[in-house]
Amino acid sequence: TKQNEDTYDFLYKIVLVGDSGVGKSNLLTRFCRNEFTLAGKTTVGVEFATKSVQIDGKTIKSQIWDTAGQERFLAITTAYYHGAVGALLIYDLANESTFESLDKWLEEIHEQAEKGIVIMLVGNKLDLEEKRVIPTEKGKKLAQEHNLAFIETSALDSTNVELAFQTLVSQIY
Ligand code: GTP
Ligand code: MG
Repeated sequence: TKQNEDTYDFLYKIVLVGDSGVGKSNLLTRFCRNEFTLAGKTTVGVEFATKSVQIDGKTIKSQIWDTAGQERFLAITTAYYHGAVGALLIYDLANESTFESLDKWLEEIHEQAEKGIVIMLVGNKLDLEEKRVIPTEKGKKLAQEHNLAFIETSALDSTNVELAFQTLVSQIY
């Protein structure tokens, strides 16, 4: 029998967090629609998209929220994190300052999100290996210090994008 597209067992709100330009929006469109855009266009306001994955025979629908990584109003920030059960904390492995911002983002997540939120650290732009400035070990170490899962992805060539979301969702489940 054909399953209704809107049937699901669990609905999870997931937020994307990280500096402007790390690839939050492209990770979202790659995962939800298999689309990527080279032209940099900062996100205006808050957007979200949904995608369902199967875990243990259950359909889990993720509602993934995305906003610009620049300064925001506190009112937006509070609404953004409200009810989120998972977060992808993203940096650009070819851009040092996006890695240095991670402590600030972790602080924001812990101030704004519910206690049990599951956070996964994501080093994006793995396709830019020749421009890499953050070694894999450095990302891994930070993740270990904060007890987070860790993965490197490329929204451009799709490497590990499904795996990142799938791993986060199974950790929440
Ligand atoms: P804000 O909305 O401003 O917070 O940025 P963002 O985090 O949503 O970044 P966005 O997805 O708009 O990507 C920024 C730029 O990086 C764009 O030019 C993308 O094409 C590029 N980009 C995103 N992901 C990748 C990737 O995996 N590899 C490469 N090479 N470029 C990427
Ligand atoms: Mg964006």
